[in-house]
Amino acid sequence: MRLYHHFVFPYLLDAVMSNRRLHAPRQRTLAPARGRILEIGFGTGRNLPHYPPDVRRIEAIDPDLDLDRYSLPRIARAPIEVDFHHLDAEHLPFEDRRYDTVVSTFTLCSIPDVEHALAEIRRVLKPGGQFLFLEHGRSPDPAVARLQDRLNSAWRPLAGGCHLNRPMRDLVAASGLVPGSVRSYYLERVPRFAGWFTEGVAQR
Ligand SMILES: C[S@@+](CC[C@H](N)C(=O)[O-])C[C@H]1O[C@@H](n2cnc3c(N)ncnc32)[C@H](O)[C@@H]1O
Repeated sequence: MRLYHHFVFPYLLDAVMSNRRLHAPRQRTLAPARGRILEIGFGTGRNLPHYPPDVRRIEAIDPDLDLDRYSLPRIARAPIEVDFHHLDAEHLPFEDRRYDTVVSTFTLCSIPDVEHALAEIRRVLKPGGQFLFLEHGRSPDPAVARLQDRLNSAWRPLAGGCHLNRPMRDLVAASGLVPGSVRSYYLERVPRFAGWFTEGVAQR
């Protein structure tokens, strides 16, 4: 399992996250990014080409050192400056009200204590700041949700701790962030147990 986590999983993650069908959702989600920006769960850096052209700099965090061999070369080639740190989102060493924008794409599923992370996101956002998110999660279709519940414990260790069945919109709302323009849908040609996407903006 160690070899899998060090070598196989980073390769698989980068390949899956580069899927062209994710480009448009990434672009839509990142379109409002502005001001001082923090991206949590930076992964292999697959959001970098999708920031609006006027974004010149972001700060980014990810705890997984095994992803560096994909993310660091991408950071070096990026047209925007990336101030990157190995950190987890549950313990952000940043002052209150620092950011105009916090970004999370396909990350809330993998954070062990997601409620704590969302509280941190809210804390570091300025009043009126925006949380931009694009996540897969619990389907509203009971049959799909039951399948997600059944698959979850086998899926998680193979998929970097990813939960299939988290209710993303509810989790964001429960954190005290206020969902604004948010929509949910099945991404075409993705199995439904992994394809219920929620994307949008929540305000501090
Ligand atoms: C499915 S990947 C998504 C990567 C990237 N956001 C993307 O859209 O391509 C999930 C990411 O969450 C990161 N992650 C896991 N636990 C985390 C935590 N506690 N805090 C922040 N990020 C975490 C993983 O290391 C991984 O990079």
